[in-house]
Amino acid sequence: MLRALSSSYTQRDLRDAFGLFATGVTVVTAVRPDGEPVGVTANSFTSVSLEPALLLWCLANGSSAAPALRPGAEFAVHVLSHHQLELALHFARRTHEKFADPQRGAPRGPPHMQEAL
Ligand SMILES: Cc1cc2nc3c(=O)[nH]c(=O)nc-3n(C[C@H](O)[C@H](O)[C@H](O)COP(=O)(O)O)c2cc1C
Repeated sequence: MLRALSSSYTQRDLRDAFGLFATGVTVVTAVRPDGEPVGVTANSFTSVSLEPALLLWCLANGSSAAPALRPGAEFAVHVLSHHQLELALHFARRTHEKFADPQRGAPRGPPHMQEAL
């Protein structure tokens, strides 16, 4: 169920409360129609079903990655290990420089990070 919260708490309160929930962290990668690779740190990932094979994750409407996640688009989900804090923080930044290191880019399709779990 998706429900907007309404109350008198501040955004800081809400952030602190949400932050208490221990969760796995992923980086989702895709390619925009203009060919630019995109990557977003996401903890909204969840496994849904084996048959049919389904997963779910949520992307903010305002994300620069949104054009790459149009219906039917290919994307890759990288499950991070607890050693990969730096990678998680890197892909949580609002910048177009996330793939400045060409090693991170795959020749075709969404970039694949070999170092992920
Ligand atoms: C631990 C963590 C989990 C996050 N989970 C999500 C998520 O599930 N969905 C989302 O849209 N943004 C999530 N974010 C924020 C995005 O990573 C961030 O807003 C995005 O990378 C900003 O760049 P963009 O403008 O290219 O989207 C998360 C950030 C962190 C640090």
